[in-house]
Amino acid sequence: MSIDDLRSGTQPSSGTVSATGDGGPAGLERTEIGSSPIFTHVWPDSAALNAELRRLVLGRMATTPGLKKSNCGGWQSERDLQLWQDPAIDTLLERMRAMLRTVIAETVPGAGEDILDGWDIEAWANVNQLGDTVAAHDHSGGVNMWAAIYYVDTGETGDAPGSGYTRYMDMSGTPRPVRGDAPVAIRATGADRQENCAGPQHTGDYDLQLRPEAGKMVVFPATLPHYVTAYTGTDKRITIALNLRHTRFVVADYATPYSRRRVMWRNHRGAMLVMYRAKRLIRNAVAAVLPVDRWPGVLRDKLLGG
Ligand SMILES: [Fe+2]
Repeated sequence: MSIDDLRSGTQPSSGTVSATGDGGPAGLERTEIGSSPIFTHVWPDSAALNAELRRLVLGRMATTPGLKKSNCGGWQSERDLQLWQDPAIDTLLERMRAMLRTVIAETVPGAGEDILDGWDIEAWANVNQLGDTVAAHDHSGGVNMWAAIYYVDTGETGDAPGSGYTRYMDMSGTPRPVRGDAPVAIRATGADRQENCAGPQHTGDYDLQLRPEAGKMVVFPATLPHYVTAYTGTDKRITIALNLRHTRFVVADYATPYSRRRVMWRNHRGAMLVMYRAKRLIRNAVAAVLPVDRWPGVLRDKLLGG
């Protein structure tokens, strides 16, 4: 697993700051805090799986209107992909759980089975066509701890190489010199996300840009904002997004539209845990007897949220 993609801004290394000849003191110690880990892995031999996922997603797109979230022009499925009953979905979820185990082992020294396992996954499909983008957003909410993207089809057609890039915003808080376009403020997640579609798409010169690649899986903190540059090809850019939930982790943060629920999780963990587990049991039991694409709206509202 490695970051094999380019950074659009330079990232200084850690350690002792050497004299720079600028008149300031030499020998400053530098310690990093708040950097955001992003893990990538390209699953080999994925062509058959991706073809099947593409067929499933486009089939669902042809029969359902989809949602309007942070997608600007693109189609986004209901957040129920994890419940679609198909072997390709099972394989995708297996890969997700396998990669997540490695991520947890990497980020939690001595991690036990209680946190390596027990993840609840929510997933949905995204299809972008000519000119479609995704506005800046994050995946915070409830017990969403990590988020992930799986690239099914980059839609690269030769006439539009390199479009539809996922770009992660630099959230280190480090002041950066303005180069060209200045970073812009984005609306908090939880506001009407469609309003972000009207703003400038470019948010910063120091963002980390990932190259789309079929079979690539990316895992990042759910709190990390990101956006997708315009797809300029003539085919379809297809990805699957995933929220990865676990009740035995916490994230340090301050007020956001989701803070109230996080406070509930911190201060009333027992009651929240009971409600969370009951909801998950009911959701899976209902899905077993009634296909999720036939659920009425009220059931979706009650059972599919985090
Ligand atoms: Fe996202």
